[in-house]
Amino acid sequence: MTYSLTDLPFLGSGLGYRAEFADAIADPAHRIDWLEVISDHYLFAPADVREKLAELRKRFRIVPHGLELSIGGPEDPNPRYVDALARLVDDVDAPWFSDHLCYTRAGGVSLATLTPLPRNREVAREVGRRAQRVQDAVGRPLILENVTYHIDLESPLSEARFITEVMEHCDCGLLLDLTNLDINSRNHGYSTRDFLDTIPLERVVQVHLAGGVPSDDGRVAIDSHSEPVPPAVWDLLARLVERASVRATLIERDQDFPEDFGEMQEDLDRARLLLGSATAPTAGVW
Ligand SMILES: [Fe+2]
Repeated sequence: MTYSLTDLPFLGSGLGYRAEFADAIADPAHRIDWLEVISDHYLFAPADVREKLAELRKRFRIVPHGLELSIGGPEDPNPRYVDALARLVDDVDAPWFSDHLCYTRAGGVSLATLTPLPRNREVAREVGRRAQRVQDAVGRPLILENVTYHIDLESPLSEARFITEVMEHCDCGLLLDLTNLDINSRNHGYSTRDFLDTIPLERVVQVHLAGGVPSDDGRVAIDSHSEPVPPAVWDLLARLVERASVRATLIERDQDFPEDFGEMQEDLDRARLLLGSATAPTAGVW
């Protein structure tokens, strides 16, 4: 089955659901257009956890974002995992679902980290074909996210070329993490302009935005999801939305949760403004 990515609904400016934000999310004074949830927290969860998700769905559109699909692993994704994902995606009537362009499992064991892939033509072909099979099995569009990496093994393809070649073997979309792009471009010395000129921008459905920190010695940037979105990432979003039909932005925060939600709301509002989303659906309309 093929999807026209430009026909996907416009979701606006969303927030990654974390328990620390539960009260802020429940407060209707906050403007959050949609929620991304971590798929793995719900796939095999007890009924009460799924019921809480069903409650959230009454107010928000929900997109499941996974960690353990392991699309580039040595083995095919686990069919039991893919079946559970299809049920979750159906339960929340997700417009699309996402995971990372990396691997997280090997030999049946979770590596507990987003491990980057060797960037060559064979891997790109295999990952693209697998992504298509997963998308077909789940029955909704799959979008794949670029990850950060701190070890860059000698590879025949640049990161942007590799992503492009994966996309040539499937009709899936891209979840472009602009913070990861900013961090990788600085850590590995490449141009964000060249990256954006290379990847198929028409496949970009959704964007991730977050703030990171420098390493202790200040030599590398770390994707810590602990800070407000920095200026360089806002600049990337401004450049991207001029060239791509982005359907949704998402603010990610996983540490140093601010006591005052105002800091998160500022980033949510700024992303919405950049999306030009005067007509974005508000919570509860859906
Ligand atoms: Fe991300």
